[in-house]
Amino acid sequence: MSRDNAKGTPGAGAGPFRNSTILVTGGAGFIGSNFIRTVLSRDDFRGTIVNYDKLTYAGNLSSLVDVEAKHGGSKYFFERGDICDGNKLREVIGRHNITVIVHFAAESHVDRSITGPAAFVETNINGTFQLLETAREVWNKRQDVRFHHVSTDEVYGSLGPTGSFLETTPYDPRSPYSASKAASDHLVRAYYHTYGLPVTLSNCSNNYGPFHFPEKLIPLMILNALEGKPLPVYGDGQNVRDWLYVVDHCEAVWSIVEQGRAGETYNVGGECERKNIEVVLSLCDTLDRLCPVTANPRLAGRKDLGSYRDLITYVADRPGHDRRYAINCDKIKSELGWKQRHTFETGLRETVQWYLDNRAWVDTVRSGEYLKWLDQNYSKRSS
Ligand code: NAD
Ligand code: TYD
Repeated sequence: MSRDNAKGTPGAGAGPFRNSTILVTGGAGFIGSNFIRTVLSRDDFRGTIVNYDKLTYAGNLSSLVDVEAKHGGSKYFFERGDICDGNKLREVIGRHNITVIVHFAAESHVDRSITGPAAFVETNINGTFQLLETAREVWNKRQDVRFHHVSTDEVYGSLGPTGSFLETTPYDPRSPYSASKAASDHLVRAYYHTYGLPVTLSNCSNNYGPFHFPEKLIPLMILNALEGKPLPVYGDGQNVRDWLYVVDHCEAVWSIVEQGRAGETYNVGGECERKNIEVVLSLCDTLDRLCPVTANPRLAGRKDLGSYRDLITYVADRPGHDRRYAINCDKIKSELGWKQRHTFETGLRETVQWYLDNRAWVDTVRSGEYLKWLDQNYSKRSS
């Protein structure tokens, strides 16, 4: 089928991929693991998921223990592999008869991309290229297949005080992370236009929720607070992000896989703009309610603390720190009927409670390598 025929064609009827075998790249990461759990818990999903993950510092199979116990060897399989490894990809995609790829695998942390951009270029650009090439070769012009690429709103750059990103907003990435994601988005679209590979893309705003690796703002602040460590707010704390509960993002991705039109991009967002300092204050207040300082055994004897707010510390800003992101997600709402199911208040409460209840997960994912990086990153900022 030519690209013009393929363009705008939704999957072959409602729920065409419910019986498919789906390759989820980066399924041991934050959003990927939530996605696997979300799809496998759907009553109407009768297919199989193969999680393909390199298990970098950010990938943790401990995020999928429940999934493995319930579905391992029947509807869920794990394959350890690098998306840069075309031979391994070809073998896995062939052996499992994969007909849908949902591509989450990436280096994802802006601060790491500033201190070490090479891994971002390698995984996000070359890795996506290898995955596209393999899909093109193995699927050989089939149209009853789908490649969904998960991307970020950061490709659109930084907004002033008003306005929001549309699917048509020109790309203007500013960090090595967002530049590498922008490059990968361009490659995915190129494979659609040039080779007719049936792709869809989503560009989503900041996620938060369970299994979030504790180097990102929300989990870092929760865990630092519980341990009585400073809460490092970059710059003036006035940068704005648009927050979305991770399960809402996963449902959006699934709705695009099922009903999205080939060749199309869908923005996904929380419609929930908050300044960073507002997020940190809300977290402190939630913690003050759920685990007051006086009831926290780790803080016994800390007479300097009346509230977690007392731990807030302003630190040196991130270089090139984007000021404001805001997503316009009218397209996915009107075309696919998706909408957010969590407010920031309910999502944040659930998230804080999850971190309080899942200390063992936190201890497992914090490896020596991770702690070393955290120490280095924040010792440079302590001004
Ligand atoms: P994450 O860092 O938590 O997880 C990334 C996963 O990819 C890990 O399991 C890691 O082991 C795996 N991985 C890394 N390099 C790999 C490689 N070369 N081969 C195979 N696997 C590899 O990331 P996340 O926050 O879950 O983000 C997932 C995707 O969603 C990314 O593409 C990211 O750009 C995008 N995204 C994230 C957010 C957010 O707020 N976290 C928002 C919008 C879009
Ligand atoms: P982050 O979670 O790293 O996501 P992103 O950079 O992809 O938006 O950061 C969210 C915001 O929080 C961002 O404006 C940077 C800021 N931030 C801090 O102020 N302190 C921190 O310790 C971290 C990790 C982030």
